[in-house]
Amino acid sequence: MKKKVGVLVSGRGSNLQALLDAAADPDYPAEIALVISNIPDVYALQRAATAGVPAVVIPHKDFGSREEFDAAMHMVLEAAGIEIVCLAGFMRLLSPGFAKAWEGRMINIHPSLLPSFKGLHTHQRALEAGVKLHGCTVHLVTAELDDGPILVQAAVPVLKDDTADTLAARVLKQEHKAYPLALKLMAEDKVTVDGNRARVDAPAGGTLINPKS
Ligand code: GRF
Repeated sequence: MKKKVGVLVSGRGSNLQALLDAAADPDYPAEIALVISNIPDVYALQRAATAGVPAVVIPHKDFGSREEFDAAMHMVLEAAGIEIVCLAGFMRLLSPGFAKAWEGRMINIHPSLLPSFKGLHTHQRALEAGVKLHGCTVHLVTAELDDGPILVQAAVPVLKDDTADTLAARVLKQEHKAYPLALKLMAEDKVTVDGNRARVDAPAGGTLINPKS
């Protein structure tokens, strides 16, 4: 049985697209069963429609508190029988209660090699810090922003003429490989958590993507 996945989005949804594309393979162990956006009319919703996946808009602005908004999302996810939640460019902080309810079953993609550069503007900050290696991370979600056990990382070199945009584009290409890989490992129950560390039952190097450019 394929695991039922709900994807939370707020924008263009290129990572959603990568997950939809991966899940189109009959051998992929997860099915994208629901998309939730907190913002109406974003491109991610069109991607869901094109793929024939049900999508729901739950505008956070309609709720008096973060907890009420999260409770509404939780109800919709539960009603759809969702087993794994993927945050894919979802631009809301989560309440501790929601994080707890989905602990071990919710993953996020972040455009840096965590624990470096949590938060926003990661590519610009990486350039300013002068790092030579940057990338993206898929991790289990905890109540702390961009924290939680790391599942998969993809590294990209920082090139001497990079701008935040060229670097972002190079990282994004790897995000689209890292996220489907991490979801596959989750859906196949290959992940166990030991303190802050996720132990992934994958071949050596199977959780690191390390392209040359
Ligand atoms: C990605 O860079 C992701 O890592 C970050 O937000 C961006 C979302 O892009 N969390 P998209 O909506 O998936 O195209």
